[in-house]
Amino acid sequence: MSVYILGVESSCDDTSAAVINGTSILSNVIASQKVHAEYGGVVPELASRAHQQNIIPVIDTALKRAKIHKNQLSAIAYTNGPGLLGSLLVGSSFAKAMAYSLGLPLIEVDHLQAHVLANFLEKNGEKKDKPAFPFLCLTVSGGHTLLLKVNDYFDMETLGRTIDDAAGEAFDKAAKILGLPYPGGPVIDKLAKEGDPKRFRFSIAHLPGLDYSFSGLKTSFLYFVRDNLKGNPNFIEENKADLAASMQYAIVKSLGNKVEKALQQTDCRDLVIAGGVSANSGLRNAMQELADKYHRRLFVPTIDLTTDNAAMIAVCGYFKYLKHDFSTIYAAPYSAARAKLQD
Ligand code: KG4
Ligand code: ZN
Repeated sequence: MSVYILGVESSCDDTSAAVINGTSILSNVIASQKVHAEYGGVVPELASRAHQQNIIPVIDTALKRAKIHKNQLSAIAYTNGPGLLGSLLVGSSFAKAMAYSLGLPLIEVDHLQAHVLANFLEKNGEKKDKPAFPFLCLTVSGGHTLLLKVNDYFDMETLGRTIDDAAGEAFDKAAKILGLPYPGGPVIDKLAKEGDPKRFRFSIAHLPGLDYSFSGLKTSFLYFVRDNLKGNPNFIEENKADLAASMQYAIVKSLGNKVEKALQQTDCRDLVIAGGVSANSGLRNAMQELADKYHRRLFVPTIDLTTDNAAMIAVCGYFKYLKHDFSTIYAAPYSAARAKLQD
C-alpha cells in the first residue's frame, strides 16, 4: 500500500512543502524569502510574517504538483526544531491544524536528522544506492556543524561539533566582509572557481578531538581584508576571486581534517554529507578525495536537497510512520539543537 507523507518545513527563511510516496519525491515546493537579502542575514520577525503569507499557497501547490488529494495523505510531518521559534510556530501550527481536521497522524521531525536522511530520498522513480549503517555524516548548515556517527535512522551519535560559529556562518560572514549578498555560501563557491585557493593563507583552528571552531578564521579573514584595504582601497575588487577561493579552501580544509580523523577512528563504511554547505563544490571534491583515499563510498544529496526543503522532513516522517512514532498537538517547538540526535 502506498504511504503518502506531506512534509512541512519552516525552521528558518524557507517555507517548503513536499509530498512523497515512500522515499520517492512527488513534489517539493520551496518559497525562499527574498526580504532578508537587504539586511545581510535572516530577520526573525520578517521570516515568520513571510511564512504566514507563503504557507497556504506552498502546501496547496505541493499537493497539486504531486496530484494527491489531501484525503489520500497517510500522515503530516513537520519541523519541530531546531530553528527560529516564530518561524517554527507557523509551520507547526498549520501542520497540527491540518492533521487534526483531516484526522491524520501527526509526526514531529528534527531538522538536523532530516538533513541527514535527505540522503535516502529518490527522484523521478529512480532506484539508487542508499548509505549503509553505521555511516559517518558531516552535517554542515547555516546554523550547525556536526560530525555524526549514524547507527540507524534515529540513532545519531555526535562525534564532534562546532564550539562557536557554524561552517555556513563562516561562508556567510566572509561574503558579507567582501560586500557580497546573503546567503554568501553559493556566491563564494561560484567566485572561488575562478580564484587561486593558495594565494592567501588563513590559519585554521586545531582543536583536540573532533570538534570544530570557525570564529578565529572569520576574525583573521576580517583583519586581513581590513588591513589590506588601508593600503589599497580596491583590494577587495582586485582580489575577490582569490579571497573567496582562499577562504573556501580554509573552511573545507578544516572540515576535512576532522572527517579524515573520524574515518581513521571509526568503523563507518560510508561517508555522507548533508546540510546547505554540502552544496559546496570544494567540499564535495575534498570529500570525494577522502572517500577514495579510505575506500569508502561517498553519498551527497542533489543540490536542491542539501539546503532547507520539505522533502527531507517528509522522508524523516516516513521512517517514523513505519515505527508508528506519532506526536500530538501538544509537542512544543524548540530553538536549540537537541543534545542527542536520538529518540
Ligand atoms: O541547511 P541550510 O539551507 O539552512 C540551515 O539549516 O542553516 O544551510 C544554509 C547555509 C547558508 O549558510 C549558506 O550560505 C550555505 O548553507 N550554503 C553554501 C552553499 N550553498 C548554501 N555554503 C557554501 N557553498 C555553497 N554552495
Ligand atoms: Zn537546514
